[in-house]
Amino acid sequence: MHHPLSLVKNVISVSSGKGGVGKSTIAFHLAHTLIDDHSLRVGLLDADIHGPSLPTLMGLMEKPQIVENKIVPLLKDGLKAMSMGFLVDPQSALIWRGLMVQKAIKQLLFDVEWGNLDVLVIDMPPGTGDIPLTINQLVPLSGGIVVSTSDPLSLVDGVKGVAMLKKMGIPFWGFIENMAHLVCPQCETHISLSHDSLVEKEAVRVGDAFLGSIPFDQGLRFGGAMMASSKDAFKDIVRKVIPLLKQG
Ligand SMILES: Nc1ncnc2c1ncn2[C@@H]1O[C@H](COP(=O)(O)OP(=O)(O)OP(=O)(O)O)[C@@H](O)[C@H]1O
Ligand SMILES: [Mg+2]
Repeated sequence: MHHPLSLVKNVISVSSGKGGVGKSTIAFHLAHTLIDDHSLRVGLLDADIHGPSLPTLMGLMEKPQIVENKIVPLLKDGLKAMSMGFLVDPQSALIWRGLMVQKAIKQLLFDVEWGNLDVLVIDMPPGTGDIPLTINQLVPLSGGIVVSTSDPLSLVDGVKGVAMLKKMGIPFWGFIENMAHLVCPQCETHISLSHDSLVEKEAVRVGDAFLGSIPFDQGLRFGGAMMASSKDAFKDIVRKVIPLLKQG
């Protein structure tokens, strides 16, 4: 029997260390930019067992179908998506720990019919705990992207996230700074929300590891229409990621 993920060319992670900095939002838009700009076949796996975000982010509530003992990912606008939130009542997963969590992660990776994919994007839960470790033991990751805002509290955890990738032997592809600035709706002036571009400074310090900045944009939320400058920012970031992907 072939390895369940053998038809997936690249598994990449979007993580942060700190919660609530925009991993899920960014993972979702990166996935769509890979599809829209580069015609890649992309899957998005919400690895947050305890607090799944994808159902809300994608406006999807339906239950996936089971075909020949495999879970069929939900398909929306060309993106194959899977989340614990599609499979169980989120209240029940809330109290899982240890082996239950590992079993759930295994199921999301191996019991889902991902099929042929160029990229499977894994939206990690916050922190440097059990779930990223479990995933890394189960499937080799091509690379990891770390999201942070430019405030010291977020960056301290972001740096830990980078250390964790390195410890696990996963290539660190770079930082994305989120909620970096506001664009004035009247005059389009950029109003900085970031603390001295801390993320970019850290990225430069650890090497050429800055992928780009995403503005504060309510259009990135479910049902929104993103600003042109956000769209451009995702395009630029994805242009840097493309050469890092395995083709074969
Ligand atoms: N660039 C942005 N502009 C405006 N709102 C944003 C932006 N990025 C994220 N948000 C909002 O911030 C909140 C947190 O985002 P998100 O859920 O993507 O973060 P997360 O890092 O995945 O959180 P968790 O650690 O809980 O998984 C959400 O309400 C989201 O809509
Ligand atoms: Mg999230």
